[in-house]
Amino acid sequence: MSKFLQVFLVVLVACLTSSLVQCKIQIYKFNVMMTNTTRLCETKPIVTVNGLFPGPTLFVKEGDTVLIKVVNQIQSNMTIHWHGIRQIRTGWSDGPAFITQCPIQPGQSYVYNFTITEQRGTLWWHAHIGWMRSTVHGAVVIVPKQGVPYPFPTPDKEIEIILGEWWKSDVEEMIENALKIGIGPDISDSYTINGLTGPVSSCSSPQEGFNWVVENGKKYMLRIVNAALNEELFFKIANHKLTIVEVDATYVKPFQTETIFITPGQTMNAILDADLGTGNYLMAASPFMEEVHVPIDNRTATATLQYSGTNPSEPIKLTDIPAQNDTSVATSFVDSLKSLNSQEYPARVPLNIDHSLLFTIGFGINPCANCVTGSELLANFNNISFIKPEISLLNAHFFNISGVFSDDFPGNPLNPYDYTGTSQPRNLRTMQGTRLYRLAYNSTVQLVLQDTGMISPENHPIHLHGFNFFVVGKGLGNYNPDNDPNNFNLVDPVERNTIGVPTGGWVAIRFRADNPGVWFMHCHLEVHTTWGLEMAFVVDNGKGPKESILPPPQDLPTC
Ligand SMILES: *[C@@H]1O[C@H](CO)[C@@H](O)[C@H](O)[C@H]1NC(C)=O
Ligand SMILES: *[C@@H]1O[C@H](CO)[C@@H](O)[C@H](O)[C@H]1NC(C)=O
Ligand SMILES: *[C@@H]1O[C@H](CO)[C@@H](O)[C@H](O)[C@H]1NC(C)=O
Ligand SMILES: *[C@@H]1O[C@H](CO)[C@@H](O)[C@H](O)[C@H]1NC(C)=O
Ligand SMILES: *[C@@H]1O[C@H](CO)[C@@H](O)[C@H](O)[C@H]1NC(C)=O
Ligand SMILES: *[C@@H]1O[C@H](CO)[C@@H](O)[C@H](O)[C@H]1NC(C)=O
Ligand SMILES: *[C@@H]1O[C@H](CO)[C@@H](O)[C@H](O)[C@H]1NC(C)=O
Ligand SMILES: *[C@@H]1O[C@H](CO)[C@@H](O)[C@H](O)[C@H]1NC(C)=O
Repeated sequence: MSKFLQVFLVVLVACLTSSLVQCKIQIYKFNVMMTNTTRLCETKPIVTVNGLFPGPTLFVKEGDTVLIKVVNQIQSNMTIHWHGIRQIRTGWSDGPAFITQCPIQPGQSYVYNFTITEQRGTLWWHAHIGWMRSTVHGAVVIVPKQGVPYPFPTPDKEIEIILGEWWKSDVEEMIENALKIGIGPDISDSYTINGLTGPVSSCSSPQEGFNWVVENGKKYMLRIVNAALNEELFFKIANHKLTIVEVDATYVKPFQTETIFITPGQTMNAILDADLGTGNYLMAASPFMEEVHVPIDNRTATATLQYSGTNPSEPIKLTDIPAQNDTSVATSFVDSLKSLNSQEYPARVPLNIDHSLLFTIGFGINPCANCVTGSELLANFNNISFIKPEISLLNAHFFNISGVFSDDFPGNPLNPYDYTGTSQPRNLRTMQGTRLYRLAYNSTVQLVLQDTGMISPENHPIHLHGFNFFVVGKGLGNYNPDNDPNNFNLVDPVERNTIGVPTGGWVAIRFRADNPGVWFMHCHLEVHTTWGLEMAFVVDNGKGPKESILPPPQDLPTC
C-alpha cells in the first residue's frame, strides 16, 4: 500500500470518527489529463485537472495540512504551484519547475504536502511549467479557523470568479513557435469568466456565457482570481458596487468600488449586496494596457448576474467598460488598498532594513543563432535575464551541488542610468545567467522595483514566492532614495504576493526573510517570464530545526 493511501485511510477514519469540520488534513487527487473542450465554436483537447476547466477549487481551513496527489496522465511534463501559500519550510511543495522541483514526468505522480500557516482568504493554484497554466488552474479557498469570524459582516453565500484567457490554437505550440522565430507570442482569442467567453451567436449551436443566479436581499462574497496569462484586467458588474475586503489572502480596510483592477496572479474578495430585486445584469472583464504599441487582446468577456425569478430573456442591463488605457481607474483602485491593520491582524512592516535593493525591469534583444530572425527578445531584472537550470535550484542549494547557480545577483544596477528618461542606453543587449540573491534567515529586505523605458515601459505584475510583502511606496519616473522614503506608508500598507509596477514608475516592497529555501520572483505576465524576467532569492537556514528547511519528500521527482 502506498504511503499516500495509508495516510488517506488514517485521515478518513479520523475524520469519520470526529466531526468533518475538525479534520486537520485535507486530501485531494489531481489527475492531469487531456479533455476535449469547445469554446468560440471550436473543439480542441486541452490539459485539465480532473477534466475541469477551470480546475477544482481547494477548500481548506487555516492551520490545515493539505496533501494533493498530482498524477500526470499527459505526454508533457507538469508541476503545480500553490500561488501565495507561504510554504514555510516546505519549498519542495512550491511547484515552479527547475526552481524547487524537477517536473512530474508523464506517468509519474507527486504528493504536494504543506500546511496553511496564518493565512486565510482566496489564493489559487496553477501549473508552473511552460504556458500550461492557461488551462491548468483553479481557486484555493482558505476559511478562517473554526469559530473565528471574518472581520466584516458574514456573507450569506460565496462564489469563485476566475478570469482567464483562451487561445483557439495549442498554446504550447504557439509559444514554442514564437520563440523559435524570435517574435512575440500571439494574443489570445478571448477572455473568460469561470471558463466561459460569453455568448457567441455565430456558432452553429450558440454558446452561452457564465450565468450567476442570485437571490434578492442576500449578501455574496466573490472570490476573484486573475488567471489570465498576459493581461491585467478590469472587472465590473452593471449597477452593483463591490466592497473589497481582502487581497492575496490578507484583509484590507473595506472600500467600495464600481470597477476592480486585478493583475495576473492577484486574487481578491469582494462583497456584493444583491438588493435590486430583479433583472439580468452584465458582468464584464476587459483588459488594461496603457502602451498603445503593445499588441493585446482587446475583447471583453461577459457573463450575467441574474436575480432568481427573472425571465432569462429579459434584456440584460449593460455597463460601460473602462477604456483599455484608463490609467485613472486602475490607479485609484490600487491607491485605495490598505492593510486592515487591526489588533487581530496587525501589519508587521519591517522597520529596520538589512538589504536595500533596487532591481530594474527591462528588455533586451540578443543575437540568437537558432532563431529564424537571428535575434531573440529577452527580459531582465538588473540587466540579467534568467536562465533556467537543468536541475532544481532547491536541490542544488540543499545538497550543496555546485555549478548550478551563483549567489551574486547584483542588489543594485551595475550601470545606473536615467531609467525612465527619454534617452535610453542604445545597446539593448542583456546579460544572461542563473544568479541568485542570498539572504540570512530573518533578515529584512526593502526592494524597489523600477520599470525602465528599455524598449517599452509597461505595467509588470511581479510575484514573489514564499513570502508576503508590504507595498510601502510607489511613484512615477525614477525612484529617488533621498526623498521618496519620506512618503512611505509604514503603518498600514497593503500586504500581498503580487504587485503591479506602474508603467514608467516604481514600487517599494518590504519583507522579512523568515522562510528558508529558494524562492522564485518573476513577472506574472507569462510572456515576460518566458523571456527571463525572473530571479530567485536563496534564504539560508536559521538556528535549529524550526528555522530550517525540511528534507525533501521521498517521491520528489528527479530530472
Ligand atoms: C477528442 O476528440 C477527438 C476527435 O473527436 C478524439 O479523437 C479524441 O479521442 C478525443 N480526446 C479525448 C481526450 O477525449
Ligand atoms: C507531510 O509532511 C510532514 C512534514 O511536514 C510529514 O511529517 C508527513 O509525513 C508528510 N505526509 C506525507 C503523506 O508525505
Ligand atoms: C482591437 O484590436 C484590433 C487589432 O488587434 C483592432 O483592429 C481593433 O480596432 C481594436 N478594437 C478596439 C475597440 O480598440
Ligand atoms: C487612450 O487612447 C485613446 C486612443 O488611442 C486616446 O485618444 C486617449 O487620449 C487615451 N486616453 C488616455 C487616458 O491616455
Ligand atoms: C551543505 O553545506 C552546509 C554548510 O556548509 C552544511 O551545513 C550541510 O550539512 C550541507 N548539506 C549537505 C546535504 O551536504
Ligand atoms: C547589459 O548587459 C549587456 C551585456 O553585457 C551590455 O551590453 C549592456 O550595456 C548592459 N546594459 C545596461 C543598461 O547595463
Ligand atoms: C527576527 O528578527 C526580529 C527583529 O530583529 C526579532 O524580533 C525576532 O525575534 C527574530 N525572529 C527570529 C525567529 O529569530
Ligand atoms: C521532462 O523533464 C525531464 C527532466 O528535465 C526531461 O528530461 C524530459 O525530456 C521532459 N519530458 C518532456 C516530455 O518534455
